[in-house]
Amino acid sequence: MRMWGGRFDGAPDARMADFTRSIEVDAALALDDIAGSIAHVRGLGRAGLLTDDEVATLERGLVSLRADVEAGAVAWDPALEDVHLNLETMLTERVGVVGGKLHTGRSRNDQVATDLRLWTRRAIDRLDANLLALERALVDLAEREGDAVLPGTTHIQPAQPVLLAHHLLAYVEMLERDRGRLADARRRVNVSPLGAGALAGAGYPLDRDTTAAELGFDGVTRNSLDAVSDRDFVVEVLAAAALAMVHLSRLAEEVTWWSNPRFGFVRVADAFSTGSSMMPNKKNPDPAELVRGRSAGVIGALTAMLTLLKGLPLAYQRDLQEDKPAFLAAVATLDASLAVMAGLVETLVVDADRMRAAAEEGYTTATALADELVRRGVPFRAAHHIVGGLVGGAEAEGIPTLAALPDEAFRAALDGSDDETARGLAHQRGIAATLRSAATIEGSLAGADVIGGTAPGRVAAQLAEVRARLGAG
Ligand code: ARG
Repeated sequence: MRMWGGRFDGAPDARMADFTRSIEVDAALALDDIAGSIAHVRGLGRAGLLTDDEVATLERGLVSLRADVEAGAVAWDPALEDVHLNLETMLTERVGVVGGKLHTGRSRNDQVATDLRLWTRRAIDRLDANLLALERALVDLAEREGDAVLPGTTHIQPAQPVLLAHHLLAYVEMLERDRGRLADARRRVNVSPLGAGALAGAGYPLDRDTTAAELGFDGVTRNSLDAVSDRDFVVEVLAAAALAMVHLSRLAEEVTWWSNPRFGFVRVADAFSTGSSMMPNKKNPDPAELVRGRSAGVIGALTAMLTLLKGLPLAYQRDLQEDKPAFLAAVATLDASLAVMAGLVETLVVDADRMRAAAEEGYTTATALADELVRRGVPFRAAHHIVGGLVGGAEAEGIPTLAALPDEAFRAALDGSDDETARGLAHQRGIAATLRSAATIEGSLAGADVIGGTAPGRVAAQLAEVRARLGAG
């Protein structure tokens, strides 16, 4: 006999039962379901709906059930539809008829909303710890390779040199915002729907506040219809998770390029690489590729959840059962992606020489050279033109960097300018040496001396600030 079977004749069709059950997915909520039931039983006792003995019996049964769930010793019965009916049935087998009093003043609708909020709260706390661990791995690497210089790009073309530490700290900024979004969502997750009943509110004078407090909630939902049908909190966490996956995917994309021998900026450790079944030479950064690939599923989960909600009238509709498969999988994906990226970053070997050689390519110090002319009174537009001419000349002559240009090239470029100040500089003693020094990698880095810039002093200060804030691993 089904728990809800009083008005039904005969057994459900197997196709219907197979189609509607959710135990395969919602078994993941078992511990949250038991925690909610223990708090609910106590609330029923406080409301005078259960005797002290009944409360004690039910609580003992739930605690023993919890031990078995934790030990992985319960066998879920697919015929019992979902985790709620499975647990209630098992409890009744343990404690006898008093088990039939557990569901007083409660519906699976407020129950599952409570379970999912408890589950989500735990998930957020775990994700936060994993985000923090990856940030620390990035900070460790930035500290280890503090002087390494990358060819910063725009349009994927060589742009300006930047410190590798600066580049890595950019990801720390993204991940910090991810943590902030999850922390913000957690405030709205952490309210108790218990007492909302099926939709209208429980039919007994339950002290919702005390039950909520026992479960560690910050408060109670204020509208019973909203309580059982709101999944905003799932959308919010999925949005934060999707964005975090996008951040990881960008980092993963960079690692795949950087580890290509043509770049040779980094070597991914063997422990975080795989080989090819056919090509003996291959070493592939698969975890990075899979993080990039799995971001698609998390983005899809966000879209699925929004689409699930958009046509639903109040209050609970069975569609809402579909909140769990994609959400739980998305959180698991983010969890695992954070862990594997932390390992990959921890074991990444940087080839600072290769990075620096690449940073020299493409006349990346041209902007710094123009800035130096501006410091000497040349209008920026004229300086841009002069340096553009130097770049064109160097390229034509096969001279690889601006710092390698002969004195004569600097003097001729200044002399040929429309700008009077520039022409005056052409005859100044030591001007070529001054400009050459500004056009080195070090000169270029040092010039970006603003808050948030890549000047070594700024990056060191930022690194120290982040380290102090995040602490060591
Ligand atoms: N398995 C359901 C879910 O996850 C639980 C609530 C079902 N309520 C109902 N009256 N069928 O949403």
